[in-house]
Amino acid sequence: MKVIWNDQIVDRTEVKIDLEDRGYQFADGIYDVVRAYNGKFFTLDEHIDRFFSGMSKIDLEAPFTKAELKERLAELLNVNKVDTGNVYFQITRGIASPRDHVFPEPTVVPPVFTASTTVVPRNEEKMSKGITAAVVPDTRWLHCDIKSISLLGNIMAKHTAHKKGFDEAILHRDGIVTECSSSNMWMVKDGTIYTHPDGNLILPGITKIVLLRAAAKAGIPVIEKEFTLEQLKEADEAFSSSTTIEAMPIVEIDGTAVGTGERGPVVEMLQQFYIKEIEAQCGSIMENSLI
Ligand SMILES: Cc1ncc(COP(=O)(O)O)c(C=O)c1O
Repeated sequence: MKVIWNDQIVDRTEVKIDLEDRGYQFADGIYDVVRAYNGKFFTLDEHIDRFFSGMSKIDLEAPFTKAELKERLAELLNVNKVDTGNVYFQITRGIASPRDHVFPEPTVVPPVFTASTTVVPRNEEKMSKGITAAVVPDTRWLHCDIKSISLLGNIMAKHTAHKKGFDEAILHRDGIVTECSSSNMWMVKDGTIYTHPDGNLILPGITKIVLLRAAAKAGIPVIEKEFTLEQLKEADEAFSSSTTIEAMPIVEIDGTAVGTGERGPVVEMLQQFYIKEIEAQCGSIMENSLI
């Protein structure tokens, strides 16, 4: 498989990550994941904007323009002949020796950029049947809006849920639902959709932007307002969203069915709108679709 390593496209085996790379030692870096359908990127501009915004939030100077990055990622997608899949890209503050908490001078230490692809079909069965989730305390830091490569809090939450046999972790701070370990969180009550507002406690999801647009088009009211675990228990529907899972019904929380225990009509409608958004940018994906 070919990957991007700084400004080259090379075979994965050629990449050398230094043990004093600040990404490796401090998780001092930013990442993003963008999805492609039919060999074309979906919402690439939004992902690139968030990546640049993340770099600026941690004072990391981009070694390329947005246009240059887009071109490089498109080249990688092409070289690896990815039809439906993900491109993961990340930047770290570079290799600074000796290890020091102080940021190195960017003119002396250039950042390290890498990107790779994976072929991942849409998981239509899960999108239709839904997933289960466990409620887990949100013990992450207070900059969850930054797509930092430090995901220890997220993976610990997911691990807690997995150990109990659930697919995903729904995170809460003092009873307020924030998001999931790797997706945004939504609930539906009496025909209105609720989701946590953007801010420092959640990642501003790109899928969230698309779903908000979809809900507006479908005429479904959305309130971007905090909701509690108690309110979630009474929800008619629950779902999570991310680039890789799109809008994913959550049909069971901590062993109790949400609503009917099956995918609800609101999330199903959003899924249909989401497909239309994909098709507008990437062409038809529906030939074999089950949903
Ligand atoms: C913690 C967290 N929240 C939300 C999201 C959803 O973001 P997006 O829709 O941009 O994939 C992700 C995606 O990785 C995430 O890790």
